[in-house]
Amino acid sequence: MSAENGGSIVSILTENRVFPPPPEFAAKSHVSSLEQYESLWNRAKDDPEGFWGEMAQTLQWSKPWEKVLDWNPPFAKWFVGGELNASVNCVDRHAAGPNKDKAAIIWEGEPGEKRVLTYQDLLVEVSRFANVLKGLGVVKGDVVAIYMPMIPELVIAVLACARIGAPHTVVFGGFSAEALAGRIQDCQAKVLVTADGGFRRGKVVPLKENADGAAAVCPSLKAVVVAKRTGHDIAMTAGRDHWWHDLAAKASSDCPAESLDSEHPLYILYTSGSTGKPKGILHTTGGYLLGAALTTKWVFDLKDDDVYFCTADIGWVTGHSYLVYGPLANGATSVMYEGAPNWPDEGRFWKIIQEYKVSILYTAPTAIRAFMKWGEQFPKSYDLSSLRLLGSVGEPINPEAWMWYHRVIGGERCPIVDTWWQTETGSIMIAPMPGATPTIPGSATRPLPGIVPEVVTRDGKPVGVNEGGFLVIKQPWPSMLRTLYGDDERYKSTYWSEVPGCYFTGDGARRDEHGNFWIMGRVDDVLNVAGHRLSTMEVESALVSHPKVAEAAVVGKPDELRGQAISAFVTLETGQEASEALRQELRAHVVKEIGALARPDDIRFTESLPKTRSGKIMRRLLRDVAAGRESSGDTSTLEDLSVLAKLKEEDEV
Ligand code: PRX
Repeated sequence: MSAENGGSIVSILTENRVFPPPPEFAAKSHVSSLEQYESLWNRAKDDPEGFWGEMAQTLQWSKPWEKVLDWNPPFAKWFVGGELNASVNCVDRHAAGPNKDKAAIIWEGEPGEKRVLTYQDLLVEVSRFANVLKGLGVVKGDVVAIYMPMIPELVIAVLACARIGAPHTVVFGGFSAEALAGRIQDCQAKVLVTADGGFRRGKVVPLKENADGAAAVCPSLKAVVVAKRTGHDIAMTAGRDHWWHDLAAKASSDCPAESLDSEHPLYILYTSGSTGKPKGILHTTGGYLLGAALTTKWVFDLKDDDVYFCTADIGWVTGHSYLVYGPLANGATSVMYEGAPNWPDEGRFWKIIQEYKVSILYTAPTAIRAFMKWGEQFPKSYDLSSLRLLGSVGEPINPEAWMWYHRVIGGERCPIVDTWWQTETGSIMIAPMPGATPTIPGSATRPLPGIVPEVVTRDGKPVGVNEGGFLVIKQPWPSMLRTLYGDDERYKSTYWSEVPGCYFTGDGARRDEHGNFWIMGRVDDVLNVAGHRLSTMEVESALVSHPKVAEAAVVGKPDELRGQAISAFVTLETGQEASEALRQELRAHVVKEIGALARPDDIRFTESLPKTRSGKIMRRLLRDVAAGRESSGDTSTLEDLSVLAKLKEEDEV
């Protein structure tokens, strides 16, 4: 945790509006009263192993476990000795039953094409692609990198990896060639699955060009598989690159699934921490799948006839847990959309909801704020009466956005589940159970059964009611990350050393007199820009890798639409001149190093970075300057922040 936060976390939010579950909703829900929720929660707290053992019966195991939990802090093993396969749980068991012809995925491309994959179709395609991977020499334990647009082949590739026990690492299509290469190198992926491109706001995203850039510096890659999506011309390297459709045409659609140890790695997903190097979060099979499946059922109150639409990209954890594994493990019908919410116009999501009669929508506050800005006329032009539940994830939702979502999208009848969790937690941790928990704008409300969070001081003491502190989790849970890929020490120091004996989330929070949690944002150097997680150090490293830059400091500044924006302070090498052209060059450089999501919103050139006497960058001062709380003069040319720094120094140390 960064010292600049000084350990004092103050919340200014007060909110008195409470929305009890609508009685007709509660009557039909899986958990239908607060008493029922509380008894589940207490039961799980008193007998976690008994509770989780019972819950895990909902999955299909090929070999029963001998022990529910082996807890050797901070290393956990869940369902020890048990064996299962995630693709069997997500596909085969539904394809073998009455849901065989039920739509598993309803896909819509940005240009408007549609494709429906039933559970039976999915079984055929997943098995076929699993054989393709085997044909390329992938064996159990080999890592497969996936860098694709939001097309059905992405889901197929993910599940095919799970089928043969090859951990996947999905890299969001918005990341650059350099960022992709860094991830492939870290996990030594053997095969890369990509596409010729994807569509975003009518333009082609050049995924294959980026994949080529990465492959050139990743000797671990033995093959690249390319799905045809856009049909535009791309280069194919003989001997290395293969078209998906060519290999699939030759592959059998029969591929028995591997029976995998419960702790077999399912995937690695890179996310930003407070250093420059992204962390490979490792999730394993049994516990992760249980967390994803169970929380999808609880939090979205999922029923067999629901049509569920999660708008996240599978490149992020939300897409992993709540577009792929959670809904499919429950045999649900998921809508998957390839493109932008405002293409060809701002009504696209609402058109999708009307057309497929979506009943559950799961999206992010940053999107909700954009919808608000675009105006009510877009949702109002469509029939949204099929909706019965709304979800929010990724950042704190401001009460104004919550109320708009409730009124305009939910027609004042749909409960809103504000879900707090992280890449590391694997599944939702704090959220309402919509038939049981009264909801409150801005609060993620209560922990799910089996989850024991607490708000504590820096030295681990519980804080009082409504006092701000650090959010920690006190008991292990099945879908927790197991380690950071290849770096047990960093796993221990990042998550289990800040507050001894507890999992440290990196978030600040308070708990009110009713036991509701209010998440107050990160207490470390992690930024949350439009729900995307980035580290200040990552952007700083990208900036200083430019030959004209001597030093850089990056901070977040409040942004009405995206929650936070990126503000950079840069000192130049001697002899370099600040200019608008250089500013543009640096922004482009960051995009090349990381991706467009990390493009700094503003870059200020400064003579020197304000530092304390001990040499620490005064980030709090920079945050104030970035937010316009301190006048720092003309920002178009070089400025001298050292004067401000001198005035402020006493404050910071
Ligand atoms: O700061 C919290 C914020 O997002 C962080 C996790 O980011 P990531 O691993 O990318 O996962 C995002 C999707 C789960 C958290 O540490 N966050 C996530 N959900 C919420 C939230 N902050 C407030 N309220 C939420 N519902």
